[in-house]
Amino acid sequence: MIAVYAPGSVSNVACGFDVLGFALDEPGDVVTAVPMDGPGVTIAAIVGDTGRLPLDPARNTAGAAVMALLQRLETTRGVSLTIHKGLPLASGIGSSGASAVAAVVAANELLGRPASLDLLLACAMAGEVAGCGASHPDNVAPSLYGGFVLARSANPPDVVRLPVPDGLACAVLHPHLEVQTGVARALLGDQVPLRDAVRQWGNLGALVASLFMADHALLSRSLEDVIAEPKRASLVPGFYAVKAAALAAGALGCSLSGSGPSVFALAASLDRARAAGDAMQRAFAAEGSVGADLWVSPVGRQGARVIS
Ligand code: HSE
Repeated sequence: MIAVYAPGSVSNVACGFDVLGFALDEPGDVVTAVPMDGPGVTIAAIVGDTGRLPLDPARNTAGAAVMALLQRLETTRGVSLTIHKGLPLASGIGSSGASAVAAVVAANELLGRPASLDLLLACAMAGEVAGCGASHPDNVAPSLYGGFVLARSANPPDVVRLPVPDGLACAVLHPHLEVQTGVARALLGDQVPLRDAVRQWGNLGALVASLFMADHALLSRSLEDVIAEPKRASLVPGFYAVKAAALAAGALGCSLSGSGPSVFALAASLDRARAAGDAMQRAFAAEGSVGADLWVSPVGRQGARVIS
């Protein structure tokens, strides 16, 4: 039996809509894989989803990802999966992506590691498409590779791993709400004013440079989203109060994590991330709408890994 942990991830990272993401240290999902007598994929059990995810492998992101892998490897060997959800569903921290990534890494390990990381990425993305109807490499890629990842292209996948400046840490506030990515995407429309596009690609280029230069001030100035955040902020009650609290507590920047409802803040140290996270939690509690979880951790340098 092989067990693999794949971390959740923060996608978009403010200015990198659909192309930039980073891995968290925790939380994440664990998928175990065992060989099966016949060919194909079965899902033996799913733990921690309160019965909401499909056991049919063709409709489950983890199952479909491993089906894609077995097909690409042209193997008749079979794999049985058990999925342990540590990530909340529809939370904006890459829950479906992490399951797909953990599953393909576990199956690949079981088969003697025949697949490259790039093939695993393509299969994890195929799994997300089968399970969720769409896939964005900005969650799957950091969950697989770790650290910050820029996806220059999704199809074919062309991903660039970026450096993680020492000490960089993250707070993630997860309001007890669910946002379906499709719904959040429908808010965006399909047109962007040129001035916003210019501002956004200026920020994204500078953000990438700031990671190479370990320049926290430049990173802070670049953590601005003028395209998606203004249209999605209403999905999170009190979003602007939470953001203001994070910045006042010393965060370098704060925005929606992926399509929300989670909100992330990046900070120069774990202590500052903790302070920002506490402030975010207090500001969100003052809204009095629903509860929220908070995770504070370094940016996860390591992606999916075999744990037993
Ligand atoms: N980048 C996607 C979005 C979500 O913001 O809609 C995560 O893949």
